[in-house]
Amino acid sequence: MKRLIGVLFGALAAGAGVASVATRPAPAPGASAPLLVGARVDPAVFATLRRSCVDCHSEATRFRWYSYVWPVSTWTTKHVAEGRLHLNFSRWAEYSKWRKERSLSEIANQVEDGDMPLRQYTWMHPDAKLTPREARAIFSWTQRERLRLINEGDR
Ligand code: HEC
Repeated sequence: MKRLIGVLFGALAAGAGVASVATRPAPAPGASAPLLVGARVDPAVFATLRRSCVDCHSEATRFRWYSYVWPVSTWTTKHVAEGRLHLNFSRWAEYSKWRKERSLSEIANQVEDGDMPLRQYTWMHPDAKLTPREARAIFSWTQRERLRLINEGDR
């Protein structure tokens, strides 16, 4: 019986693997590009952003084995594409000053409301959840960084 179950699971996993080839998330060309270039961000906040946000908001997405298996692959591809479109830490240096300021206030809103990281993601990655302290640290970083940009004058 145990063997039968093993065989069945094996077959299922193989089937899922084949089915997932079509939706396999591709690593981005900028996967090794540095993040948040030009921003002043202290190491603790940077580490938190890396841990909790970069999978969807940069090109340095760390795909896991299950990211390639349907239906997770479909979900991952969609959310990563959408997340990057909204906010991409790998492209920070290319953002206009206006866009940086806007993104910083958006980040502040999201962490204040506890809307990010997405709940569907923390279900799979509980370690990505922000502690209230980390959320506050990110929030105050966004305020400092916005002020710094504003004081920098027009560019
Ligand atoms: C599982 C993927 C995922 C993770 C992890 C994630 N996000 Fe998002 N994020 C998204 C998606 C998808 C959207 C766009 C749709 C939406 O708002 O729900 C988004 C939208 C946003 C926006 C709105 C941007 C705009 O200009 O409208 C901000 C800001 C943001 N995320 C910040 C964060 C921060 C900060 C973290 C980490 C603490 C984080 N996200 C983690 C997927 C993710």
